[in-house]
Amino acid sequence: MFKALQGLRPAGKLLREVDVNNLPRHVGIIMDGNGRWAKKRGLPRSAGHRAGAQNLKTISEFAGEMGIRYITAYAFSTENWKRPKAEVDALMQLLLDYLRDRDQLAGKNVSIRVIGDRSALSDEINHEIDVVEDYTKDRDGMVLYLAINYGGRQEIVRAVNELCQNVREGTLSPGEVTEAMLSARMYTDEVPEADLIIRPSGELRLSNFLLWQSAYSEFWFSDINWPDFTTRDFTRAILEYQNRNRRFGGV
Ligand code: IPE
Ligand code: IPE
Ligand code: MG
Repeated sequence: MFKALQGLRPAGKLLREVDVNNLPRHVGIIMDGNGRWAKKRGLPRSAGHRAGAQNLKTISEFAGEMGIRYITAYAFSTENWKRPKAEVDALMQLLLDYLRDRDQLAGKNVSIRVIGDRSALSDEINHEIDVVEDYTKDRDGMVLYLAINYGGRQEIVRAVNELCQNVREGTLSPGEVTEAMLSARMYTDEVPEADLIIRPSGELRLSNFLLWQSAYSEFWFSDINWPDFTTRDFTRAILEYQNRNRRFGGV
């Protein structure tokens, strides 16, 4: 199955060690470190974001070919609005360019879906999201969830509000809320919980990413800034995941 990938340096030899029967079904990626990557090179932060977006194409295509079924990539958090307006504008412009590059954006057989609070995004971006989701909807390879204006707490609060609405309408009794009901109201309702969460850039935190879905995730951290994160690093993360002993509270 890795025939097509053999030429893809630098993952090379490592790939052969991957057990295709024990892949994480859902991998979350916190694409962090773009600013520091740019700073190191004397470039504006926006150049780091551009390099980061480019890298998402490389990594998602690679992950899809490896056989990973779902990736959720954290592109913009509900807290990232705190950044200077010029940076937020540059990020939004980049998102637009990224979404418009329909054929190149994630690999030929990758279907794209956006999660997060879309109400704060411009009409232009919302339109482009609709177009890209529709354009890629029949692809049967990997599904790439792009988390844009996404926050784990916002997602949980949204689910709670939906349940409150059900109570108000009389279709749900207070006190009868279950975990399954909440799960079904997360943006990722059709996806298994995150098996593996990857965060490059040296930060050891979730920063409000997939709070509900990460209850039993395995974590892989590294000092590499996201634009420098290669297919080899991705493969290393998968191999380390395959060596973990997941107990889910059992023995
Ligand atoms: C991640 O890179 C991209 C976004 C949060 C949108 P950063 O911009 O956070 O890069 P650092 O952490 O400042 O290096
Ligand atoms: C997390 O990175 C959000 C994204 C990668 C989109 P941040 O750079 O915003 O996280 P903090 O502020 O360091 O926690
Ligand atoms: Mg950061």
